[in-house]
Amino acid sequence: MTARAGSAAEDIIQLADRMGREDPYPVLHRMRQASPYVALPGLVVAGTHATCSAVLRDPGMSSERQRATLAPAARGPRTRNFLHLDPPDHTRLRRLVSKVFTPRVVATMEPHIRRTTDDLLTAAAARGSMEVVADLAYPLPLRIICEVLGVPAEDHHLVQHWSARLSEALEPPIPGLVSTTTSTEAARARAGFIAYFQALIADRRRSPRADLVSQLVAVEDASERLDSSDILATCILLINAGHETTVNLIANGVLALLRHPEQLADLRAEPGLAAATVDEVLRYDAPVQITSRVAKHDTRLGAADVRAGDMVVLLLGAANRDPAVYPDPDRFDIRRRSPVPHLAFSAGAHFCLGAGLARLEAQIALSAVAARLREPRLRAGGVSYKPNLSLRGPDVLTVDFDDVLAPGRRDGQEANG
Ligand code: HEM
Repeated sequence: MTARAGSAAEDIIQLADRMGREDPYPVLHRMRQASPYVALPGLVVAGTHATCSAVLRDPGMSSERQRATLAPAARGPRTRNFLHLDPPDHTRLRRLVSKVFTPRVVATMEPHIRRTTDDLLTAAAARGSMEVVADLAYPLPLRIICEVLGVPAEDHHLVQHWSARLSEALEPPIPGLVSTTTSTEAARARAGFIAYFQALIADRRRSPRADLVSQLVAVEDASERLDSSDILATCILLINAGHETTVNLIANGVLALLRHPEQLADLRAEPGLAAATVDEVLRYDAPVQITSRVAKHDTRLGAADVRAGDMVVLLLGAANRDPAVYPDPDRFDIRRRSPVPHLAFSAGAHFCLGAGLARLEAQIALSAVAARLREPRLRAGGVSYKPNLSLRGPDVLTVDFDDVLAPGRRDGQEANG
């Protein structure tokens, strides 16, 4: 029997209420089973793996969200980042950034990511408990992406504040979903980002350093050059996409492992499981739950009529739990081997440019938690979630433990802290 989704408003209210935020998957299962469907005039919902995957790869589906007839309200000064562009601009800008953001460059960051993770866990050892979001999941990716770009340490808190405000407003265009206060804060944050990076870019033009902003300023692609507005938009995109998402991956991962202690023990015993663990966390509890495309032409998705200008909301978190693709999809299993890749990093031309960095950071963070925290346990009432639907993760995750082992030591050896 085909499940019926409620009205778009009912589905969203259920996802947004406290229980829905803690466990959105029963509602998402229902929405996926009913999809694709027209939820509101101008808005189509898709949630199966096959449909999401096809839409993400379809050149007839635009990433230029402003083409949507159901456009969100004006949100203050905008930058044209390439996540929201179609070819040929998307292709040109993505290629230029890929040149300075290669797997080889990411590999060189590994020792620094390890050291930073070790320092953060050692600091937690002194306190005797750990709020995983504030003590590890936020500072690790924030520090790394700020250092990559060349944002000095004393300004990281500014970037974190602006980025969080922008992310809160990054929701599907359902009327009433984003409050006026949230939109105003996001507009203010965007203006702050723009002024800050304009100054940083100007500084690096005058005196280049060994950072990505300097490289972007210098980069030339045959006859083309990035112009200042491209660099500005790219910096804000990289900062925002480069840590808000990874925070959720690390926190969702620690939570899933604490709720499955036998698998945490497996990861501790077999560090080689780190890569598979991270990919299972991405599938099981996707940090980016929702993305969207805008139809360029009239078309059909399953039984749903899609008109040019309709926004197609893609439920990546639901697609990753599609039973047609993943047997027993609600089971967390770090030994799962699926021939079909999850969609947590999207697919097609906009496949996440930072997937390699995100995977590396999360592998190091989850491995360190497994190896160094002795008897970690979730504190009763120690989890709460951010209100966002699109970016899913806890805002608080408190873990108690008996001890924190020194980096490089295994359980049974002398502990520190
Ligand atoms: C767990 C961590 C991450 C997740 C789940 C994630 C997810 C995604 C998704 C779903 C998209 C595509 C959205 C769409 O197709 O509409 C995307 C694009 C992108 N991501 Fe990530 N991301 C993560 C980490 C990062 C990091 C660390 C960086 C940078 C350092 C990054 C940079 C980007 C960029 C630049 C794009 C735009 C690519 C394009 O439009 O061609 N992401 N990411």
